[in-house]
Amino acid sequence: MSTLQELFLKGRSLLKDLSNPDLEAKLLLLECTSIQEKQFYSFPENNVSRAGERRFYKLVSKRLMGTPLAYITGVKEFWSIPFTISPGILIPRPETELIVEKVLELSSRENETIVDIGTGCGNIAVSLAKELPQARIVATDTAMKALKLAKLNTSRQKTSNIIFARGSLFSALPRLCLEGKCDFIVSNPPYVSEEEWAKLDIEIRNHEPKSALVAGKSGLEIINKLIQGAPPYLKPGGSLLVEIGIGQRDKVLSFFDSGAVWNKVNFFKDLNGISRVALGET
Ligand SMILES: C[S@@+](CC[C@H](N)C(=O)[O-])C[C@H]1O[C@@H](n2cnc3c(N)ncnc32)[C@H](O)[C@@H]1O
Repeated sequence: MSTLQELFLKGRSLLKDLSNPDLEAKLLLLECTSIQEKQFYSFPENNVSRAGERRFYKLVSKRLMGTPLAYITGVKEFWSIPFTISPGILIPRPETELIVEKVLELSSRENETIVDIGTGCGNIAVSLAKELPQARIVATDTAMKALKLAKLNTSRQKTSNIIFARGSLFSALPRLCLEGKCDFIVSNPPYVSEEEWAKLDIEIRNHEPKSALVAGKSGLEIINKLIQGAPPYLKPGGSLLVEIGIGQRDKVLSFFDSGAVWNKVNFFKDLNGISRVALGET
């Protein structure tokens, strides 16, 4: 039998080629022993059962074979909230928190209506629902599996101000009578081109859903449709916030320019200095 400390050290050494072996070994150990982090630090000399030990090595080998950590542990933190994640649904990325941050900066904190298009596990919608309990949030996705997971995250976070609707882009909004009613439309849409997809990490290509990442040959098809399709649903002075990819800024700016409806367009950079969120105000 091994102790928590011994297994942690073993796992860390097996995972040494990953970017954060300490964290990964610890999270896998917590996952397979069902203990809390506090217990891990307070009682490293505690023994792990044989079954726990076997499970730990199984999870380490899954990780070494390239399964993303979030699909193994079933959890990914976003906006300091633990989101339940399952294979087939995109794992939230930290840069997407910029959308939440910008909506909070722009929000009047009154009874606003916010639509999240392509909600995935519900990370943006649930984060906003918690920060803005007085807002009415509508979250859409084409994938039924995503909507089910987003609903699960909504109930786990005890947010009651989100409704879900299945549909592509804006197709669910007319039946919810949202023409001219939205203060914010937000989206982290698929924006990877076919060419970029072929060059992405094998870990992403083998495990994450291509339909959540790739948007046609150029990668810009969905972003363009969001920019062209949002104005009828926004209130005067309403905002569209869309996450974009590296090097897409100028092309995205030209999509806003092609119509005369946008009063103001701005771009916000992520922590790596990449223009990551486009904002259009009507
Ligand atoms: C990049 S993921 C973003 C998921 C999540 N919002 C996040 O930030 O991690 C894009 C999501 O959009 C959904 N999607 C793809 N095409 C769509 C469309 N035409 N209309 C609505 N949702 C779409 C996918 O199923 C996926 O859940």
